[in-house]
Amino acid sequence: MKKWVMANWKMHGDLNMVRHYIQMLNKAPINEQVQVVIFPPAIYLPEFMHRAQGQDYAWGIQNIYSKDKGAFTGELSAGMAKEFGAQYVLIGHSERRHIMQEDESLIANKFYLAKEYGMIPVVCIGETLEEYKNKETRNVLKRQIESLKINDAFSLEKSIIAYEPVWAIGTGLTPEPEEINQAYLDIREILSNIDKEYQDLPLLYGGSVNSKNIEAINNIREGQGVLIGGASLKVEQLLEITQCIVCC
Ligand code: PGA
Repeated sequence: MKKWVMANWKMHGDLNMVRHYIQMLNKAPINEQVQVVIFPPAIYLPEFMHRAQGQDYAWGIQNIYSKDKGAFTGELSAGMAKEFGAQYVLIGHSERRHIMQEDESLIANKFYLAKEYGMIPVVCIGETLEEYKNKETRNVLKRQIESLKINDAFSLEKSIIAYEPVWAIGTGLTPEPEEINQAYLDIREILSNIDKEYQDLPLLYGGSVNSKNIEAINNIREGQGVLIGGASLKVEQLLEITQCIVCC
């Protein structure tokens, strides 16, 4: 089964770091069962396009706007990202939901625009700490998945879902492996209730993944990989995690 290792740099990095990172990726043997995807800040996408060698890894954009062009100062479109080779796009990351106040209809619009451009949306969903404590995880996941529709219709094929509990992001805290597996099972059931065709969408986990906890996370049965923030900033650590995804 194919697995994913995704690196979300958020607003980190500089030109030196980007070039070193790409150089290391170009040299690293990446097992063909793993798809590595890097999400650098968008301004560095041209570096990937011009310096990446081979087909062993892909890259994506951390955010797009919900329209394909127009008077939207400061925004970037899916088409622009594609011109620089971005094949994936993060949609609904908790930092965009909570800090940038993105609502579910904006997120749905971005999701479908990404698909229109043939990009693979990686939809991030997950509960806050309060919702976790109130045992509302399943309801939150259901609401967030069911909001991904346009004109009352779903078209979720060729997307990836990342379960990212908000309270686990950047905190060093992670749910127990059984809790992650339960969230995966819930997500599969929610997807399958929408359409059986969606029940096998790839499911990733994100939130304080690092080279120490990757083995336990990788052994969770229903999961197909990870979305890593902080620990992905060092290419050595990303490669260590990628190695573990195949063999541990
Ligand atoms: P983290 O971030 O690994 O630093 O917790 C994960 C994410 O936000 O995707």
